[in-house]
Amino acid sequence: MTLTQPSRTGARVERLPLARFTTLGVGGEAEVWFVSDHDQLAEAMEAPYRILGGGSNLVIADEGVPERVIRLTGPFAETDLTPDPGLSDGETVVTGWVGGGVPLPGLIRRLQKLGLSNLEGTVGIPAQVGGAVWMNAGTRYGETFDGLHTLEIVTPGSRRQVTPDDLDWGYRASGIPRNHIVARVRLKLRRSTPEEVQARMEFADSARKGQPKMKTPGCAFKNPGGVSAGRLIDEAGLKGTRVGNAMIAPEHANFIVNLGGANSADVHALLGIIRERVGVPLELEYELWPEEG
Ligand code: FAD
Ligand code: EPU
Repeated sequence: MTLTQPSRTGARVERLPLARFTTLGVGGEAEVWFVSDHDQLAEAMEAPYRILGGGSNLVIADEGVPERVIRLTGPFAETDLTPDPGLSDGETVVTGWVGGGVPLPGLIRRLQKLGLSNLEGTVGIPAQVGGAVWMNAGTRYGETFDGLHTLEIVTPGSRRQVTPDDLDWGYRASGIPRNHIVARVRLKLRRSTPEEVQARMEFADSARKGQPKMKTPGCAFKNPGGVSAGRLIDEAGLKGTRVGNAMIAPEHANFIVNLGGANSADVHALLGIIRERVGVPLELEYELWPEEG
C-alpha cells in the first residue's frame, strides 16, 4: 500500500523495494516509514517494525518483510557538533546531538576537518550513526564506542538516555536489544589537529586496500576468537565460489559480492557453503531479514 496522505503524525509512508536502501542491492518490498520527529517515530512503532540504517550489514529476502521499516530522516539525520560548554574542556569535547540517521562517512570527514579525534578508526564503514552504534562497528584501529558520551534510545512507549557504562558492549556488539532505536547520540571526542586525525584515518583506511569494491554488505562472519574469518574461508579454498550472481570475493574471502542481479537465495547458499566447509563454527555478522529458522 502506498499512502497518498501522510500518516496521522505526518510521517511519509511508502511501499518501496528495500534493495535500493542496501549496499548489497538485494531485497523486496516493505512499507517504509520516513520519520522526522519523536511523534512520528512513536506512531511508526505502534505496529511491528524494523529499523533500517545505512543497509550496509543486511541481506534482505526477495519477498521483502511484513513489518514496517523505519528510516530516520529530518532532524534525526542532522549533526550538531557544538561543544557543550559544561562538559567540554581543553582536552575533551562533548558535542550536541548527532542523529541516528546521519551517514557515518560524512561525520568522520567533518570531525577530521575540526581536528576532533576518537572516531577516525571507523573510516570507510558505510553505516549510519545509529546502525554503527547498534553494532559497535569498528576496525582494529577503533570502534564506534570510542567516541560516545550519551545515547538516546527509543522503544514503543519509552525514551531514555544512557551512557556507554550502562551497556554491555564489546566487539561488534552494543548490548542494545534489537529494535531499541538509537535516535541520536552525543559524541565524546579528544581535541587533536586535522593533520593528526587525517594521518590516523589514512592508516586505518590502508587496511581496506584488499577489500572488494563491488556491492556487498561487508564481512559475512565475525572473526572467531580474533582469527580472521576471511583467512579461514580462504584456507578452505572458497574464494571465487559463485552461486547465481553472488560470489565469494576473490580479493577477501569474508566478503560476498553481488555481481549484478543476485538474489537473497544466492547469498544464503554461499553462507551455507562457507559454514559447511570451514572447520570452526562461524557467527554471522550480516543480519538476515527475516531471520533464519
Ligand atoms: P543496517 O545495515 O541498516 O542495519 C544493521 C542493524 O543495525 C539492524 O539490526 C538494524 O535494525 C540496526 N540499526 C540500524 N540503525 C539503527 C538505529 N538507528 N537504532 C538501532 N538499531 C539500528 N562493519 C564493521 O564493523 N567494520 C568494518 O570495517 C566494516 N566495513 C564494511 C565495509 C563495507 C564495504 C560494507 C558494505 C560494510 C562494512 N561493515 C563494517 C558492515 C556495516 O557497515 C556495519 O555493520 C554497520 O554497523 C551497519 O550499519 P548500518 O547503519 O548500515 O545498519
Ligand atoms: N586474509 C587471508 N585471506 C582472505 C582475507 C584475509 O589470508 O581472504 C588474511 C590477511 O592476509 C591478513 C588477515 O587475514 O593477514 C587479516 O585480514 P584483514 O586485515 O583483511 O582483516 P579481517 O580480520 O579479515 C577485519 C574486519 C573488517 C575490517 C578489517 C580492517 C571482521 C569480521 N572484519 O577483517 O570489518 O574492515 O578488519 O580493520 O572483524 C566488517 O566487519 O564488515 C569488516 C569489513
